[in-house]
Amino acid sequence: MTQTMTQLSRAVDQREWSRMDEHLVSLVDSTSFEADQYRTLRHALERTHAAKKVIGVTSAVPGDGKTTTAINLAGVLAQAPDARILIVDLDLRTPSLGDRLGLTVQSPGLVDLVFDPALTLDGLARRHPQFRLAVLPAGRALTVPYEVLKSPRLAELMLQASRQYDYVILDTPPLAAVQDARLIADWVDGFVMIVAAHRTPRKLLEDALNLMDPAKLIGLVFNGEDRLRSGYYGDYYGSSKGKRRGWWRTGNGNGNGHGNGHGNGNGLAHGTSVLDTVLRTVLGRPR
Ligand SMILES: Nc1ncnc2c1ncn2[C@@H]1O[C@H](COP(=O)(O)OP(=O)(O)O)[C@@H](O)[C@H]1O
Ligand SMILES: [Mg+2]
Repeated sequence: MTQTMTQLSRAVDQREWSRMDEHLVSLVDSTSFEADQYRTLRHALERTHAAKKVIGVTSAVPGDGKTTTAINLAGVLAQAPDARILIVDLDLRTPSLGDRLGLTVQSPGLVDLVFDPALTLDGLARRHPQFRLAVLPAGRALTVPYEVLKSPRLAELMLQASRQYDYVILDTPPLAAVQDARLIADWVDGFVMIVAAHRTPRKLLEDALNLMDPAKLIGLVFNGEDRLRSGYYGDYYGSSKGKRRGWWRTGNGNGNGHGNGHGNGNGLAHGTSVLDTVLRTVLGRPR
């Protein structure tokens, strides 16, 4: 029998939650233009990658917007009626997921769950008080996350999660430099690669893409562009919510969406033209 969110995670404890980060537009401003960009990503996932349930959000280097995107994506997925969404912090060197969501008690979390067989996923996942979202924080930071990430228990737990939830969104380590993200690639169904406009070094993006099984690359999401929204969208969404400007399009790399970019200027690797779907979101530069 299908379990409800209430059965899957701990009862909501309001004392564990405080205010969340304002950049999490899909949660704090769900009717905004920016939240709509994430809905387009959700639509692409549901339409083109329906079999993929365990989704890793990664990038070439730290600071490109993985955590921001992972939470916003989980937020729009959680808007579906009866949605059951789990978001997990796997960026164990620099965990920030729980903190960004306003979770004040981070421990026990994923690291404890992997090391202690007496703990259960259902017992540790925290139900968000407002959204159909369960959150599994890292628990603690590890300087060497290797043992956790390669652990068969982690793979089993995520398989269990994929059966219980509609989507499992993973805030993963960056791909370049360290092995971390590659350790989980066997059981992640697909990766969304975040590219920070004007920031992600093109060479490192290409290296990261080369490390990835092309079948598992769902698409690229551009984050942090400073181009203005088009007049159409500006009028449509009104200007009061336009603090984080941006545009978004989906396409096949040949420019069949609306929008005004062709990719390379933002550091898009030429190899991405082999992708079935290139997802691009441009969400306004971090202030
Ligand atoms: N589109 C955006 N608009 C504004 N600020 C952003 C945006 N994306 C990321 N940021 C900010 O940039 C910083 C790094 O983003 P984060 O999601 O933590 O990156 P990562 O998880 O890849 O290290 C955070 O302070 C975050 O709030
Ligand atoms: Mg992060």
